[in-house]
Amino acid sequence: MTTHTHDHVLETEGDTITWWAPLYDVCTWLVSFGSVAGIRKSTVKAARLKAGEAVLDVGCGTGDLTLRAARRVGAEGRTAGIDASPNMVKIARRKAAKKGRDVDFRVASIEDLPFADGEFDAALSSFMIHHLPDDLKLRGLAEVRRVLKPGGRFVAVDLKPGKGIAGFISHLIGHSLPDDYAEQLRSIISEVGFEDVEILEVKSPLALFIRARR
Ligand SMILES: C[S@@+](CC[C@H](N)C(=O)[O-])C[C@H]1O[C@@H](n2cnc3c(N)ncnc32)[C@H](O)[C@@H]1O
Repeated sequence: MTTHTHDHVLETEGDTITWWAPLYDVCTWLVSFGSVAGIRKSTVKAARLKAGEAVLDVGCGTGDLTLRAARRVGAEGRTAGIDASPNMVKIARRKAAKKGRDVDFRVASIEDLPFADGEFDAALSSFMIHHLPDDLKLRGLAEVRRVLKPGGRFVAVDLKPGKGIAGFISHLIGHSLPDDYAEQLRSIISEVGFEDVEILEVKSPLALFIRARR
């Protein structure tokens, strides 16, 4: 990890994820039993993205969700993706170039977003918030709120806790989540000032979906 030396946790998370970044997509497909594409489709749908809008994906990883969002907002829209891991961003940029999509992928951290206030109509975060300790969750989500326009939508997707497949996976990757994780996340998202914070009814044994409005 060559950036973001101010935060030990970030360095640790970044390092862990970084070395196996080239294996990330295949691992995600395997542990989700192929359901990850459907989860990404539901994420974009939940964000109610429209052509011409500006969208940000925080903790974008290798960029699959970001690229799907870019397709939805179209060439007249604007798409950005940030991730603390340079190797993830490198892969995401390569994919965008291959698909001919103009996406602004940057190495950055959620708690220090390199964007002005109110730049985006929508923000997405997928399977990343559970990586953050509580203080960084608060700082990061406050940053997400800052870069959204008033009324802008935020959709957070994360691992579903419990004894099912998601619980098993989170245990496997060292992120055991409390049973009330969805409620905890909802309350943190409210705490930083988001409104209409709702846990969505999306069928997935793996993922929980929360939508909120700035
Ligand atoms: C499990 S991956 C999820 C990637 C992608 N969003 C997806 O759905 O496949 C978590 C990502 O969060 C990134 N990450 C962890 N802490 C971060 C932080 N503080 N700021 C930005 N990205 C971070 C990691 O580098 C990693 O790419």
